[in-house]
Amino acid sequence: MCGIVGYLGKKDCTKVLLDSLSKLEYRGYDSAGIAVFENDSIKVAKTKGRIAQLEERINHEGGIKGNCGIGHTRWATHGEPSDVNSHPHGDANISIVHNGIIENYSKIKSFLETKGYVFESQTDTETVAKLLDFYYDGDPLNTIKNVLGEIEGSYALGILFKDFPDRIYAVRKDSPLIVGIGDDEAFIASDVPAFLKYTNKYYLLDTNEIVVLSNDGVEIFDKHGAPIEKELMVADWDMEAAEKGGYEHFMLKEINEQPAAINATISPRIKDGMPDLSECGLTQEKLAAYSNIFVVACGTAMHAGLVGKYVIESIGRIPVIVDVASEFRYRNPIVTDKDLVIVVSQSGETADTLEALKLSRKKGADTLAIVNVVGSSIAREADMVIYTHAGPEISVASTKAYSVQIAVFYLLAFELAYAKGAISQEECIRLTKELQSVPATLEIVLKQDELCKYVASTLVNAENLLYIGRGLDYALSMEGSLKLKEISYIHSESYAAGELKHGTISLVTDTMPIIAVATQRDLFDKTVSNAKEVKARGGKVIFVSHSYINVDDDVADYKIGLPTIDDLLMPMVAVVPLQLIAYYTSVLRGNDVDKPRNLAKSVTVE
Ligand code: M6R
Repeated sequence: MCGIVGYLGKKDCTKVLLDSLSKLEYRGYDSAGIAVFENDSIKVAKTKGRIAQLEERINHEGGIKGNCGIGHTRWATHGEPSDVNSHPHGDANISIVHNGIIENYSKIKSFLETKGYVFESQTDTETVAKLLDFYYDGDPLNTIKNVLGEIEGSYALGILFKDFPDRIYAVRKDSPLIVGIGDDEAFIASDVPAFLKYTNKYYLLDTNEIVVLSNDGVEIFDKHGAPIEKELMVADWDMEAAEKGGYEHFMLKEINEQPAAINATISPRIKDGMPDLSECGLTQEKLAAYSNIFVVACGTAMHAGLVGKYVIESIGRIPVIVDVASEFRYRNPIVTDKDLVIVVSQSGETADTLEALKLSRKKGADTLAIVNVVGSSIAREADMVIYTHAGPEISVASTKAYSVQIAVFYLLAFELAYAKGAISQEECIRLTKELQSVPATLEIVLKQDELCKYVASTLVNAENLLYIGRGLDYALSMEGSLKLKEISYIHSESYAAGELKHGTISLVTDTMPIIAVATQRDLFDKTVSNAKEVKARGGKVIFVSHSYINVDDDVADYKIGLPTIDDLLMPMVAVVPLQLIAYYTSVLRGNDVDKPRNLAKSVTVE
């Protein structure tokens, strides 16, 4: 949730930290701070607000000159966003930045209070800073080891000790932390984009491994303090991927990147016209043998799983149970060693999804992760991994990650259906070819940008909105609804179109717009009837369907027409106008599209 960085090298550390933090602002943006060694003292600047405010404050206070320091951008968990709750925490001797939650912080705080420590902030992090001080014995590694023995929860920590200038210590458990390796410089960071401008080489850290960055190089120690060698990873994301590239917002850029992202994700997994997911160990024999498939995820990733359910069940004829990870992990789910549990996550760090995955493994199920970030915790924990190749997704509202996730579900469904003998090889090749045509089709849909902007202008003053659809359109409309509400702050819900008249239709008035998605032609007439019912009660209907189908005025006020591909694949096409409508509604309402209020990109707390 929070973003942490650290830099040691020859450059102006303050400048590098601010630059790196700006790349991590998607992880949290309610306050920010840095701590830098200046003439062997630790100098701290922190403030409520964004990185730009932090920069102003630093300049106002005369700047900080140094070559080694740590930084933080916060998403508040304990204590409101304020100057005093901002990181770094500590004192003149020890300074720390933290991402995660220390679950037993109250107990530690009470203990430290009995030892005379006085607390300023409401944060859990301050207890770690003071516990480090309590255990400090002149040996940072030993001190950190002692503290790790006491704290419970999740953490990625960057630590400075005044007695060891120009050194950064860092450690992680269940919160991401990587070590960037440049020429004569090194970094710690929550995510690759933080240092991508300087290097694409990095080490992954495992639980309770401690890294020390010094002028002698980078040393990594295991939890017992023994030095270890790590494999150097190379990120294939380039710097442009983490920049806006001329777009007003990352979200718009990422919507437009979908054709390329889908292509990059599916192309390597199609051999001789057939889907082939064997790279991850998922053979056709294995696929055909599962009794049930579970899809467990959060938010948009869970919505991708809903599309996966409809597709797998419709052609693969295996029951698919979709669950939100925060429910699944606490409901003692009936998962056995005959089942496949698929977890889906853009970041690969979502705490609930990670725990659901661990639980599924304990229950003996095979686990497959569909993940965007290479080497992330979820990718490392799962038995099998399929990486989506969306590149970095910076906007908090997920768009291209959704499209590539459902693209993988299509490949999986086609292969599974073929493996089970539910579809012929010819049909499997036909469907796969249809999937390969999606990127080109999306280029056409993206040209409807102006129409979507116009439709958004009709929604801008709405306070409530409904999305309706049937079958795959219902699964898709859930994503449309989430997208709109998270960035426009208009209350919105998604309903199975046939369910509306069982209560919700009483909300319909001329101030309640309805977005009806009707791409499934076997269900088309039924959705049209539901749209008419809404119109008859004064509701304004925006109708999303195939462009060749005309609808009368008693069905819709506005229509968005889509190019036609196989109905099974239409969610891949129809999601684009829903994303664009959400985007433009947010822009027109003057919101901060990429950093909507109260949210953060990567949810590493429960
Ligand atoms: O990184 P993940 O895919 O695991 O994240 C899951 C959700 O937090 C995420 O999809 C969230 O719902 C997005 N803000 C939606 O746009």
